[in-house]
Amino acid sequence: MGVTAACSTCHNGTTATGKSPTHLTTLNSCEDCHTTAAWSPARFDHRGVTAGCSMCHNGTTAMGKSPTHLTGSNTCEDCHTTAAWSPARFDHMGVTAGCSMCHNGTTATGKSPTHLTTSNTCEDCHTTAAWSPARFDHTGVTASCATCHNGSTATGTPNGHFISSIDCGECHHTSVWTPATFQHSSPDYPSGHRQVAGCTACHVANTEASAWITPAFKPDCAGCHAADFKPGPHKKVDAPQRLYTVGELRDCTGACHVYTDATLTQIKQRRSGEHDAARGGF
Ligand code: HEC
Ligand code: HEC
Ligand code: HEC
Ligand code: HEC
Ligand code: HEC
Ligand code: HEC
Ligand code: HEC
Ligand code: HEC
Ligand code: HEC
Ligand code: HEC
Repeated sequence: MGVTAACSTCHNGTTATGKSPTHLTTLNSCEDCHTTAAWSPARFDHRGVTAGCSMCHNGTTAMGKSPTHLTGSNTCEDCHTTAAWSPARFDHMGVTAGCSMCHNGTTATGKSPTHLTTSNTCEDCHTTAAWSPARFDHTGVTASCATCHNGSTATGTPNGHFISSIDCGECHHTSVWTPATFQHSSPDYPSGHRQVAGCTACHVANTEASAWITPAFKPDCAGCHAADFKPGPHKKVDAPQRLYTVGELRDCTGACHVYTDATLTQIKQRRSGEHDAARGGF
């Protein structure tokens, strides 16, 4: 109360308590850092101070870097403001590469232990704006997709995904996962088959095996469409009338003849390509 003289006129270790031998070395006046309320905590008015932090923040004059502080020769002001030590920040202006020079877990934040395993450079997947979201430039990538897209190095197949050992690239592009497309190579696939509800319309178990409702007619249309067959319109003999069986017309895209009589020698009418898997509707 009402102290007007400089603190050090009394606080010189003789008139009143002075700096201990272990006190930080400073020529500043006591009042720069202390109030009369208590010696601790000390504070410092940084008004106007924007640089040269390490002149004081060297662990002697004022708090310096802790032993676990990241190492590096950047100046404190590159990463800190006088408001508080945390959070630290860094002006990346003009920095586009060489991230790992600093981002090695020592000089600046590095990859966490759970980070995806990769030897690519940080800038392949990250920008300086934020670590998340990461992105990846696939140009020139020749490795199979699955070497990275295994759920650990990069996004893998989500739960409930189509079960297949075929590489992701057979069904996906690198730009976006959906929609997926697939070109069948199995001769059992009814080629050109109209797009139906989705893969599971045939691949009911969401695996590579397709469901054959009538396996006896595999790989023909009737293997799946026997129930769609209506005998009525499928006349085989004119008189006395005889109709085709589904087994005889198991390939709906094939040809069929209508004969005049039971000897099946005289063709009355030829029909071919009646049903087209690509056209839709029987
Ligand atoms: C006229 C002499 C005088 C001046 C000037 C003076 N003090 Fe003190 N101060 C004392 C004495 C005497 C004590 C009690 C004995 C001691 O702690 O050495 C004391 C005690 C203190 C204490 C300890 C308080 C406690 O409760 O533990 C602090 C802190 C302190 N002074 C800070 C200051 C600061 C900061 C200034 C300058 C703004 C200042 N003093 C100026 C004489 C002075
Ligand atoms: C540049 C800032 C600064 C200046 C100037 C300063 N001190 Fe300190 N002082 C500190 C810091 C930092 C501490 C440790 C505070 C803590 O532990 O919270 C401290 C602690 C103290 C303590 C208690 C523990 C010790 O080390 O003795 C005393 C007494 C003290 N100062 C006296 C003084 C006196 C007297 C002056 C002026 C002659 C002075 N200080 C000038 C920063 C300063
Ligand atoms: C003239 C000496 C001096 C300079 C220069 C200086 N400081 Fe300080 N600073 C201190 C003292 C003394 C304290 C209080 C004691 C301590 O924390 O060591 C302090 C405290 C701080 C604190 C803690 C603040 C809090 O409230 O916890 C931060 C952060 C800080 N300084 C940052 C900086 C930065 C950044 C710079 C450079 C732009 C800087 N200082 C320059 C002396 C200085
Ligand atoms: C390359 C950036 C960088 C530089 C340069 C830097 N720091 Fe830091 N500092 C950090 C980071 C990052 C943290 C952790 C901050 C957080 O937890 O938010 C930190 C934390 C601190 C802390 C609090 C905890 C600790 O580890 O001690 C202090 C004190 C500190 N720095 C002092 C300094 C001083 C003094 C300098 C200059 C001599 C300096 N720093 C230079 C990035 C830096
Ligand atoms: C000269 C050292 C240095 C270089 C080079 C550098 N950084 Fe940093 N970066 C830092 C420091 C220091 C911080 C702040 C402390 C920390 O987060 O580790 C930081 C912070 C970041 C952050 C966190 C930003 C936030 O606000 O959360 C991201 C993201 C980042 N850097 C990305 C990058 C990328 C990407 C590159 C390369 C293109 C890069 N950095 C190059 C030193 C550097
Ligand atoms: C092959 C791409 C790739 C490369 C290369 C890469 N990262 Fe990442 N990183 C990611 C992905 C993906 C995430 C998760 C992002 C998300 O959650 O959006 C991530 C997250 C992070 C995070 C935040 C969470 C965590 O796991 O730590 C940090 C920090 C990070 N990366 C640092 C780095 C650094 C430093 C490097 C270079 C040494 C680097 N990364 C290289 C893809 C990559
Ligand atoms: C060298 C590793 C690597 C290879 C090989 C790779 N990728 Fe990626 N891919 C990544 C990383 C890293 C990301 C970004 C992080 C993530 O999404 O997991 C990514 C992202 C993607 C994305 C999401 C794009 C977005 O912006 O949402 C798709 C889609 C993708 N990759 C498809 C593929 C396909 C298809 C292949 C094979 C032709 C492939 N990738 C090969 C590493 C790789
Ligand atoms: C045989 C084809 C096929 C293969 C091979 C394949 N996928 Fe898919 N994937 C699909 C289909 C179909 C979907 C459903 C997408 C849709 O709705 O268009 C899908 C969906 C996804 C989705 C979810 C997209 C979303 O947001 O819903 C991801 C992620 C994905 N696949 C990743 C992968 C990865 C990683 C691989 C390789 C390890 C892979 N896929 C291999 C066919 C395939
Ligand atoms: C009209 C029915 C049908 C639809 C729809 C269908 N498939 Fe198939 N698919 C088959 C048949 C039939 C086979 C041959 C295997 C069998 O007999 O089980 C097959 C085989 C496959 C195979 C094995 C490799 C190959 O090339 O033959 C994969 C992988 C496959 N299908 C993925 C898909 C995906 C992914 C979709 C959706 C985008 C899809 N299928 C849609 C009928 C279908
Ligand atoms: C592996 C099973 C399978 C085979 C083989 C198959 N289909 Fe299909 N087909 C389907 C499924 C499943 C649908 C969708 C049924 C639904 O939507 O109810 C379908 C739908 C159709 C449709 C569309 C029906 C409509 O109402 O739009 C036509 C036309 C068709 N198939 C013709 C054929 C022809 C012709 C063949 C032989 C070349 C054939 N399909 C072979 C499974 C099969």
